[in-house]
Amino acid sequence: MSRPIVVDSVAGLRAQIRDWRREGLSVAMVPTMGALHDGHISLVRIALERADRCVVSIFVNPTQFAPTEDLDKYPRQLAHDLDRLAQAGAHLAFTPDVSEMYRAGFATKISVGGPSSGLESDFRPTFFDGVATVVAKLFLQASPDQAIFGEKDYQQLCVVRQLCRDLDLPVEIIGAPTVRDAHGLAMSSRNAYLTATELEIARQLNAILRRTAAALVAGADESSATGEASQALLSAGFNIVNYVAARESLTLGPWRRNHDGRLLAAAWLGKTRLIDNVEIPRA
Ligand code: PAF
Repeated sequence: MSRPIVVDSVAGLRAQIRDWRREGLSVAMVPTMGALHDGHISLVRIALERADRCVVSIFVNPTQFAPTEDLDKYPRQLAHDLDRLAQAGAHLAFTPDVSEMYRAGFATKISVGGPSSGLESDFRPTFFDGVATVVAKLFLQASPDQAIFGEKDYQQLCVVRQLCRDLDLPVEIIGAPTVRDAHGLAMSSRNAYLTATELEIARQLNAILRRTAAALVAGADESSATGEASQALLSAGFNIVNYVAARESLTLGPWRRNHDGRLLAAAWLGKTRLIDNVEIPRA
């Protein structure tokens, strides 16, 4: 088991990537905010299958958090993350601090339209600008051939694809299946906030979404089915349902029956906001 090279400066990252490029090696990137779990490690495995070198960024990006959100309490556990990356075989961990990513006087923002509208943006209006800005920076810093993003953050995946298409960023975006626990709960760094009772409730989210997607495929009326799913989440113990929505899977525009769809949801459980999504296959 070899430890990943740890680099905390953009110059250091570029120097290492340049060396690999000189050797003719390909590079895949896994952008993360750390607190690595099995979901992240599955992305690293995909990166290692597809490229000669795997770079994992670990950066809790302040620009994607609203002032009321959990930036300060977001889990930070670098030593544990580096152990996990060593076990997984990642080659480099890029661990910049905030001043390295956002130098004094930083004044640029990337705002992606299209799939960023609605859903998460209705509740986190500045989130995707922060994500797009940091992802664009990471891609310009590391110039990877490919980057791997989990389908768990499905709208984010669509936004990153749109970002690369619109700005001609030469990075192939690979969407990776969500990793779940034995009860269907999607792996998330924020699951660490859940109490034991909340964990039991959280585990019902995916089952409710799968049931609703099956009902839609079987011909259920869209607004009744998503309304019933919201009610089912509240009955299960969620406090607030932000949305349960059926969308077209590529653009996130309105869902059309017999087209590839996605059912997406966000709901609060105590102080924790959970998101998840499932495929709505063609009938
Ligand atoms: O999904 C995440 O962990 C973050 O939004 C990302 C893509 C690393 C950008 O900060």
